[in-house]
Amino acid sequence: EVVIEENTSGFCGVDGTVDSDHSDYNGSGFANTDNTEGNGVDWQIEVSQAGSYTLQWRYANGGESDRPGDVYIDGQVEYQGASFPVTGSWSSWADSQTVELWLDQGTHTVRLEAVSSAGLGNVDSVTIAGSSVSAKDCG
Ligand code: GCU
Ligand code: CA
Repeated sequence: EVVIEENTSGFCGVDGTVDSDHSDYNGSGFANTDNTEGNGVDWQIEVSQAGSYTLQWRYANGGESDRPGDVYIDGQVEYQGASFPVTGSWSSWADSQTVELWLDQGTHTVRLEAVSSAGLGNVDSVTIAGSSVSAKDCG
């Protein structure tokens, strides 16, 4: 399994900012999308063995409703409407639902993209579990 924090290898960017103004995040902060549909967070990974992989996010949602996201692999939507329910406050972090996908061997981009007008919740990290996966520099 690999855990990718903001501003480390495999974190490619956010349509917004990397912030640190709410406590209890891991790493140097969290990815905060500007609050508009279509904004997201991007990562890159290297899969050395094809197989089923499980994606999960550590996030906070101090808003008033779910902030669902679509999951894109290599620019193609592979899972729609992953749920990011409210966590009670912006400093209360939770693990999201898991999303299971088949990934071929090779380098892949991963994008979580907001489907509601509120943008995403604040995203602390993505965890990808499976037989053989690592973070890949975005270059
Ligand atoms: C607040 C909070 C941000 C969050 C934003 C939002 O401004 O401080 O961290 O991203 O709400 O609603 O998305
Ligand atoms: Ca935001």
